Amino acid sequence: MNTRVLDATEPSGLAGAVSEASGILRQGGLVAFPTETVYGLGANALDINAVAGIFHAKGRPADNPLIVHIANRCQMGQLAKNIPEEALTLAHAFWPGPLTLVLESREIVPRVVTGGLDSVGLRVPAHPVALALLRESGLPLAAPSANLSGRPSPTTSAHVLDDLDGRIDAVLDGGPCGVGVESTVLDIRGGRPLLLRPGGVTPAQIERVLGRACPVAFWSGGETAAPPSPGLKYVHYAPQAPLWLVRGGPDAVQRMLKAMRDDFASRGQNVGLLLSAETAAALGETEAEVLGSRDEPDVMAANLYAALRRFDARGTDVILAEGFSDRGMGLALMNRLVKAAGPRLIEAE
Ligand code: TXA
Ligand code: MG
Repeated sequence: MNTRVLDATEPSGLAGAVSEASGILRQGGLVAFPTETVYGLGANALDINAVAGIFHAKGRPADNPLIVHIANRCQMGQLAKNIPEEALTLAHAFWPGPLTLVLESREIVPRVVTGGLDSVGLRVPAHPVALALLRESGLPLAAPSANLSGRPSPTTSAHVLDDLDGRIDAVLDGGPCGVGVESTVLDIRGGRPLLLRPGGVTPAQIERVLGRACPVAFWSGGETAAPPSPGLKYVHYAPQAPLWLVRGGPDAVQRMLKAMRDDFASRGQNVGLLLSAETAAALGETEAEVLGSRDEPDVMAANLYAALRRFDARGTDVILAEGFSDRGMGLALMNRLVKAAGPRLIEAE
């Protein structure tokens, strides 16, 4: 299959590109499109064969449900039922935006979309190209991140092509994504919030709107407890080289990173460093992947996935990553880093 690139980066090309993409989607094809978080791989959510194509193209496990993207809040009721007041309040406050609401699914949503669950995740993305595509096609679009399963999510159309060229019909190029990490996934069934995945909307923002605490349920592994969200049990966001994540106070982290860097280098390993600007300066590192200032976790989050992919391109043998505070957007950033590290998590003292 020849994957077409539809250029929607300029306002003049937007309408034509979106109309082509809509045509492909209406015929059951697969189109990657930009959202404010990451690129999604879209298909008509009501077409079982098209949705099966998403799982096939990504190599995604069938029990991992897909988020359904809709054009506006008014479409919630077509796909979900028993929608609690709290969900409407959150949709009003955060949509379009990086919040996915898990609700009771209506029968119209195929089980292949929900990974066999009786719930469905819905969101209205805040990206002009995504919204134009949703409106023009008139379809609810099932769309996971447009990467091969297990790889870092794509934040540019070039990342999408790196993973999926020849496996999908088209990619709508809308330039780089702004948020850079995926949406927050919040189970709001029965009106009780439960945070399943930290993302572009922080728990503090949700708590402010709901006026109540928002418990978190991240699954950190283990065989016994069932994960609250099926996607949480898979290794994710991982670059090809093993990534070691070093957490702790800034001074201890810097000492440990320096010692590990020297140790790996002395064994002939090509070491890649993933650092804040402050730590890169303290270590005198000029070749590190610098995510941004430690004081701006949203900037660091936006740069994370592209940096992880550059390590692959450079042929890095081992990645040493600095751990950060998990305040604000730091929560989503650290969640992705912890998952990329898997068991290679070090507490520096
Ligand atoms: O920002 C995003 O959310 C991006 C863009 C494209 O919208 N999409 C994305 O999709 O990250 P994906 O498939 O890579 O991640 C979806 C996550 C998975 O962890 C999945 O298990 C969870 O959402 N999820 C989806 N529907 C769910 C449901 N009904 N119940 C629990 N978790 C659900
Ligand atoms: Mg994903």
